[in-house]
This record gives sequence, C-alpha cells and structure tokens, in this order.
Amino acid sequence: MHVHEPAAPPARTRLIVDVDTGIDDALALLYLVASPEADIVAALCTAGNVPVDQVTTNTLSWLEVCGRADIEVAAGSQVPLVAPLMTTEDTHGPHGVGYAELPSPSRAPSSRSAAQAWVELTREHPGELTGLVTGPLTNLALALRLDPGLPLRMRRLVIMGGCFHHPGNTTPTSEWNVAVDPEAAKVVFDAFSIMPADRRTIVCPLDVTESIEMYPEHVSRIADIVGVPLSEALSPDAPRGTRSSAGVPLVRHISDALRFYMEFHRDQGLGFLAHVHDPFAAAVALGTVPYTTRPATVDVELDGRLTRGTTVADLSDMWKRSLNTDIVAGTRPAEFFDHFVERVGSYIRDLNLPPSKN
Ligand code: RIB
Ligand code: CA
Repeated sequence: MHVHEPAAPPARTRLIVDVDTGIDDALALLYLVASPEADIVAALCTAGNVPVDQVTTNTLSWLEVCGRADIEVAAGSQVPLVAPLMTTEDTHGPHGVGYAELPSPSRAPSSRSAAQAWVELTREHPGELTGLVTGPLTNLALALRLDPGLPLRMRRLVIMGGCFHHPGNTTPTSEWNVAVDPEAAKVVFDAFSIMPADRRTIVCPLDVTESIEMYPEHVSRIADIVGVPLSEALSPDAPRGTRSSAGVPLVRHISDALRFYMEFHRDQGLGFLAHVHDPFAAAVALGTVPYTTRPATVDVELDGRLTRGTTVADLSDMWKRSLNTDIVAGTRPAEFFDHFVERVGSYIRDLNLPPSKN
C-alpha cells in the first residue's frame, strides 16, 4: 500500500482530458479550470454517457459557461472499437447534463479528431502531459493504433474506471467506462504496461469513487461561497425535476444537473446523493487530495458470457506479468469535498465578480 498526501504546493499539471460529458465529467472540468495547478491543453470527447456529438456539444457549452472557451475541444469516435454503442440517458439525462439547460456553444469543435489530438499533442509536448480519461477509452485506443509509441511520451495516465473488489454499476462485475468499450480498455492497459514503476497508470475504480458521495449540502456550501442563496431546488422533498432559480448561471446549472443525478441515485435505492467519480479522478491527477494505491497487473475480460468488461487485478504476481497500474484503494472523502467546495465556490464567485472587482 502506498500513501499519497498532497504536496504543498502541488506541482503544475498539464492535462489532456478525455471525457464523456456527463454530469460528473462536467464537474471534473469545472474543478480543473478552477485549479491553478491545472493546465488543460485539450478536452477530447468520446461516446459514453451520451452519443459523442452530444458529448462534444456539452463539453463546448460547459467550458464556455466556465469561462474557458479557449480550450480545444475535439470530437472522437462515434462508436466503440468492437462493441455496439451503449449510452445511459437514464443516468445523465436526455442530453447528458441532467435538467441543466446549457446555452448552445458559440464555437465549433477542433478540426482534428480526438485520436489525432492525442498523437499530435504528445508529440508536441513529449514527457510533459498527464492524460486523464473519465469516459470510455476508445479515443486513446485509436490513438495507440495510430502511434504505438504514445505511452512513453506521456508523463502519466489517470483513468476513472473499473471495479475490483466492489460490485459493478453496469453489469454485476463491470464499471461503465470499461463496459462501454472493453476492447479499448484492454488495448490501453496492455500498451501502458511498458511504463516505468514511477509512471504507472493510476486507476480510480468504483471501489473508491462510490465513496465520493455528493449531497445537496455540498452544493449549498458552494452557493454560499458564491453568495447566492440556493433555492429549494435540491431539496429531496421538492417535486421531481424542480429547477434552480439561482441567479448565477453556473450555480443554477450545477444544481439542475445534480438534481437529475441525485434522483437517479435515489431511484436506485442509494439515497438522494450523487457519486461524483470524475472530479475525484481529476483531483488524483493533480495530486491535490490524499489517496492510497496498490500496485497491480490489470487486464480486461473480453469473452466471458457473464463477465465481459470486467477489470481483473493480479495483486500477487500470479500471472507472472509486469505490474501495469497503481490502483487507488482509499481516500478521505470529507477532505476531498472540503477542497472541492472551496475551490469551485471561489472560482465561480470570482468569475462573477463585477469587472471593477476582478
Ligand atoms: O462508472 C462511472 C463513470 O461512467 C463516470 O465517469 C461516469 O461519468 C460515466 O462515464
Ligand atoms: Ca465520465
């Protein structure tokens, strides 16, 4: 078991983020633009929570409302490598952002594909970029087909995905990002097996990310920092679909997106809460929150009648294969939320200051 405590101050991290925006992907992007240590060089879109065209529109719109329309957004593959496309509008809403009604983006996506962007950016910045994937791994797998030398040009890869000693959320043993494109996940885990021990892929599985439970009071704390009262919109007793009337658009969008996600979790019998997997993985990528890891060899089941899409971790060298991951095994959720709420709340407050006070 390895313990990772936030360095003071955390080092600057230049990131390629690959998302399937997605409510928690949106929160991860907001957290990253709110983080002075983070430098997002591109946001790449993959089909997952919703189809890739919708993911791309959501990502363009979301970065614009976050004040970062300067970040390149590139569209990725319409479909997984082999599997038929699977999406989950019941979890993230018909458009992937819950009840939030985002303004249409004022700019188009990049002219290059997500896979081309992975290849070209890592060639332009060899050894500098951390990859953070919070969706299916299709784009990265396609990039590896274009350029097998990509892994060693990466500083590090962080993946939100998989589950090991914990139930799946898509099949009894598989997690969504891996289940959507198991072949892509295997391509990535195999290709990044050549990374040296100090740059092994960090995997943030459901085992830990399902302990990152966001509640209405976390959103209220963000609204308090911003200085806008949060209406009863996020009360579990408010009618299904109640919209926020918060005067600051970002607070309203967060509330409306999370209300849908919290209703979904309640419908699953988990309570009026939201598992926010992706912002936690983003904080791990920045090294701004405490977490523990276990080294392992991870592979992906592709053929099991019942177990296709399952990530399997060899923690004891049974397979006699090289270690290829550091699996996040624990964290302190309350500390994550204190950090997340303060950072996101302050960012939104400062973004909305009148020009004279900036
Ligand atoms: O299984 C959770 C993951 O799948 C999260 O990244 C969520 O956004 C979906 O992509
Ligand atoms: Ca996601």
